[in-house]
Amino acid sequence: MEIRKAARQDVSAINDIYNYYVAHTAITWRWRQRTPDEALAWFARHQTPQHCAYVAHEGQDVVGFASLSPFREADGYWPVAENSVYVRPGWEKRGIGRALMQTLVGAAKQTDLRSIVAVLDAENQGSRKFHLQLGFVPAGMLHHVGDKFGQPRSVEFLQLEINKEEPWHSRSIHTR
Ligand SMILES: CC(C)(COP(=O)(O)OP(=O)(O)OC[C@H]1O[C@@H](n2cnc3c(N)ncnc32)[C@H](O)[C@@H]1OP(=O)(O)O)[C@@H](O)C(=O)NCCC(=O)NCCS
Repeated sequence: MEIRKAARQDVSAINDIYNYYVAHTAITWRWRQRTPDEALAWFARHQTPQHCAYVAHEGQDVVGFASLSPFREADGYWPVAENSVYVRPGWEKRGIGRALMQTLVGAAKQTDLRSIVAVLDAENQGSRKFHLQLGFVPAGMLHHVGDKFGQPRSVEFLQLEINKEEPWHSRSIHTR
């Protein structure tokens, strides 16, 4: 199994993996499967050092992916990215998720990002344990803020601070 940057030809396999979890689980609160065009647009938005995507592949098969996305839209959130990590069903617990996240965190450390935040459905205890093992720490919960399959859902945030030893710099055009 090897990890590399996601390429355009990986988008269909990435979307198959993601859409499985959309259709069958509350791990993502998305209701409608992502279309091929939406997946290509997602790929196009993940082409910067801060907002990027990696795949794990076994031979020709994409067996997992991980990405960093904007956490919220406002400019001031530039120091934080939200991570996603999804392993192809049937390929879990073989170290693929960890290898993807180690690559992703390594890539994030090469940028000016200062935090990665994982946003978890509160019942996703497997992912919680996985992220805690990677050094993420609990950073709060919001109760019953979601709806999937007609059920109320809660969300937990886990945070990994990175580049803490780097001096703070601002990207703001406004100084006081
Ligand atoms: C969560 C997920 C990404 C983990 O990837 P993985 O390849 O299965 O995990 P790894 O084999 O790399 O496991 C690394 C560590 O995480 C922990 N872990 C992983 N899955 C776990 C689970 N279901 N339950 C408990 N611990 C788990 C283990 O402690 C493991 O450490 P160990 O090998 O020392 O026991 C993967 O199972 C997955 O895609 N799950 C469904 C989608 C999902 O929940 N994504 C995260 C959304 S926030």
